[in-house]
Formats: sequence, C-alpha cells, structure tokens
Amino acid sequence: MKATIDDVDVHGKRVLVRVDFNVPMKEGRIVDDRRIRAALPTLRALRERGARIIVATHLGRPKGKVNHDLTTAPLAARLGELLGTPVEQLPAVVGPEVEAAVNRLADGEVAMLENVRWEPGEEANDEAFVEKLTALADLYVNDAFGTAHRAHASTEGIAHHLSAVAGYLMARELEALGGVLENPRRPLVAILGGAKISTKIAVVENLLAKVDTLWIGGAMACTFYRALGKEVGRSLVEEEWVETASKLLAGQGEGKGKIKLPIDVVVTSEPVAGSPTTVVAWTAIPTDQLVVDAGPETCEQIAEDCRTAGTVVWNGPLGIYEIEDFARGTRRVAEALGASSATSVVGGGDLAAALDQAGVAGKISHVSTGGGATLEYLEGKELPGVAALQEKVAL
Ligand code: 3PG
Repeated sequence: MKATIDDVDVHGKRVLVRVDFNVPMKEGRIVDDRRIRAALPTLRALRERGARIIVATHLGRPKGKVNHDLTTAPLAARLGELLGTPVEQLPAVVGPEVEAAVNRLADGEVAMLENVRWEPGEEANDEAFVEKLTALADLYVNDAFGTAHRAHASTEGIAHHLSAVAGYLMARELEALGGVLENPRRPLVAILGGAKISTKIAVVENLLAKVDTLWIGGAMACTFYRALGKEVGRSLVEEEWVETASKLLAGQGEGKGKIKLPIDVVVTSEPVAGSPTTVVAWTAIPTDQLVVDAGPETCEQIAEDCRTAGTVVWNGPLGIYEIEDFARGTRRVAEALGASSATSVVGGGDLAAALDQAGVAGKISHVSTGGGATLEYLEGKELPGVAALQEKVAL
C-alpha cells in the first residue's frame, strides 16, 4: 500500500502536488470540472495542515512549447473558487520568478504552475528539468491518477528526488480499482463498451482471467459478431482483430464461456440525431444499417447481472451515447447499476457524464477520473506514476 499525505508532516513545507486538471475546455472555458473537484479533499487537508502548496498539472498536448491557448490560468481561477481562497497563477513552470513566488508562500497558501507540458523536459522526463522542478519543493504529492500511466518529469521523475506520497484521490483510485482486480465480492461482472476492440483487448484478456461474466457492448461487439460469421451491415468492424475475437469466444483458458454479447441491437441508416431506429436481433442486422446502441432485451439482461453481482466494473458506453436517441442502452444500464447493491466501479470521463445524466453518479461506489490510466490499470500494468511513490511501510 502506498504512503499518503496522512503519513508525512507537511506543516510549513513547500509541497508540490501533481494533479490531473486536464479537463475538457471550450473557447477557454472549463466544460467539466470533475477532475478539479476530485482533488479538493487532498488540497483542503494540506491547507488545513499548514502546507505551502504548489499545484502542477498539464492541460492538453502543447508538446514542449509555450501555448497560451493551453494556459492553466482558468484552472487556477476555478480551483480558487472551489477552495474559497485565491490561487496564485505563476507565470511559468520553473525558473527564478517561479522560485521566488513559491518561496513567498505562507502556510496554507496555494499557487499554480503554468502547464508543465510547455516544458520539453516534462514528457522527456529529462533530468535537468526534473532537478528544476524538484528545487521548488520539499515534498511531493501525486494526486494525478489520470496521468499515472505517463512516466513524465512531474509524474515520475520528481518522485525519485523527494519524499513522494499519494494524495487522497490517488489512494481512492488505487483502492477501488485494486479491489476489483484483487479481492472482489463475487460474482464479478465487467461491462466493456466503446467503439474499438483494439484499444480494449488487453483489458479483455486481463479481466477474463478474473471475472465471472464479461459483457462486450458498443460497436466493438460487431467485431465479435463478425468472428461468429454474422452480418453486421455498415457497422464498424476491425478486421485485423476478428481472429483474436474468435479465439476469445472459443474460450481458451480461463475465459471459457464468460463473454456475453448483446442479443438485440438498435440499428439505423445514419449515425446522426433524428435518424429512424429499429431494434433487431443480433443475427438480423440489415446490410444497409449500422449498430448504434444495445437493445432493450440485452439491457434487461445486463441490469439483472448488475442486480445479482457482488462487484461490477464498467468501462465505455454501450452506444453512441452523445446522441440522445442512441444513449438509451447506456442510460438503462447506468440506472440498473445505481439501483444495485454491488460495489460499482466505473471508468472514463464519457461514462461519468452518462451517470450524471441518469442521475445516479452519487450511487456508484467509485467513478474513476482516469481514461487511459484506468484502462492500463485494468490491463494489469504497473503505472509508473504509482510505482515511483513510497510504500507505507518504508516511512
Ligand atoms: C487524460 O486525460 O487521459 C490524462 O490527462 C492524460 O493525458 P494524455 O493522454 O495527453 O497523456
């Protein structure tokens, strides 16, 4: 188990807190501040304990160049509102001006660095940049679970130079996702959706060894239908993955018989709002149509599996949920999960929005803030940003 901010004395110390405030933005405004709110417990606790807080995050992919469209200024402003205290926006990531500002911080005060990815040394995990970042702080806290799959200077390199512990969000993510993989209440049901099986294959393989049931929904189910020799019309199929899908269905090893596919699907001729839809059996997809959602019978079966499960882990929507007409399957399953007494862990920003729409976000045991990081964790990979943190026993 990783050490957390509860295991270290932070009073009067300059604490660099790496967060993942890589939030969706539109015309310079924050569209969804979930990731900022998720880091508040850590930042509040550090303030109460008299830490001098330096918040660091990336935003977008500026590729090592100063890009004022990707400034952290709106993030600092929003954080200040949520914390109820001003957050000083610093003019750069490192350098003399930043050092001077950081050294002026009083106990409990908060400042935010500019976008760490403005610096080429960030993604390169360059030692010279790591040293400059390290010079700003006495202690390092990683609360950026969403970026923990990146071995960058502010997520990994710095942890080798300072005492390095997890924030509460990081600890909660590891506990919830670790609980699914290591010691779940059974039956353990996984639901995987999304468009492409290629991005989820490692998750499917890792989960098959652990789950009791694995539902595959979304367009990626069509690659499995093709593997079963069925017509999928104009639906997306990843031809190069058909053989893998076939092997998984044949039930090699521990995965035998665990995969379930939608038995009915919603089809339409164009994946646009207002296009008329029909529900058909999975064996009767018309050649000129494409699958855009799971059908009602399938959703009832998934709902029943959620009801009787001990643990449910869900990643990826079951249809093109951005379009209201094709969001019903995802919404129905969200409602069923909200009503279930199972431990429920949901990953990915897109599903978090769907849970909100269904009004059940508060009934889910854990909604992960990670996208790629959550997937890599579920693949069974060790995340470099996590590996670099100190173990509880080591302190
Ligand atoms: C995310 O949004 O998944 C993380 O912030 C990581 O972003 P990245 O894919 O640009 O590294």
